[in-house]
Amino acid sequence: MKMTPERWDATNAYCREVFGRQDDHLAGLMERAARAGLPEIAVSADVGRLLSLFAAITASGRASPRALELGTLAGYSGIWIVRGLGPHGRLITVEPEAKHADFAQHAFEEAGVADRVEIRREKALEALPKLLKEFGPESFDLIFFDAIKTEYVRYFALAHPLLRRGGLLVADNALGSGEWWIDTPPGTNDSRDAVDRFNRLLAEHDGYDAAVLPIREGVAVGRKR
Ligand SMILES: C[S@@+](CC[C@H](N)C(=O)[O-])C[C@H]1O[C@@H](n2cnc3c(N)ncnc32)[C@H](O)[C@@H]1O
Repeated sequence: MKMTPERWDATNAYCREVFGRQDDHLAGLMERAARAGLPEIAVSADVGRLLSLFAAITASGRASPRALELGTLAGYSGIWIVRGLGPHGRLITVEPEAKHADFAQHAFEEAGVADRVEIRREKALEALPKLLKEFGPESFDLIFFDAIKTEYVRYFALAHPLLRRGGLLVADNALGSGEWWIDTPPGTNDSRDAVDRFNRLLAEHDGYDAAVLPIREGVAVGRKR
């Protein structure tokens, strides 16, 4: 059957209904964030569950699994990730906006995961080299990109040495966002073009097995060989 805008909306609604079960805390979190003036740009619940599943897969058999997120916002995706890592897992999440980081800190406390989450209040491009010095190469099991789309290729270069072999690199907005979609003509939107470069880099990289899941705005995933 041919995909139409209505069918795409209905498909997304179906995915959220069937694969987006969440607890009351997560269900109300983004409404509270919007009332506090934060933008409504978090992942959807079905993508949150996917992130949690990826985190659980990478944490399997690891004594102290560690994940890194670029772009915390209100802590919504971070809560999914750290829950997926399990009780011994830790998440470092990077957020330069003080208002977002303050809100997220509170959300992590309310969710009962604050002792396993650390917010780095700086820009991703500043945080990544420091994390490599601090933790060393191959020190993260999962790395999730969800900050500035035009910076994804640079995140990739800096995140690659941090990710362990067998670990997962995951990127949101691999196919679109509120302002662009991947079939927007090249040369008309900087984020589209930058994400397209990132997708092709990941898909063709010798060091990764990669795929894209066309749910919501697209989730790219690469497993480091
Ligand atoms: C799409 S939102 C993240 C949503 C969040 N991952 C979720 O799904 O719940 C992007 C976040 O990246 C933050 N951000 C902006 N510039 C950044 C940068 N240079 N480095 C890291 N994060 C940045 C924004 O303030 C915003 O909170």
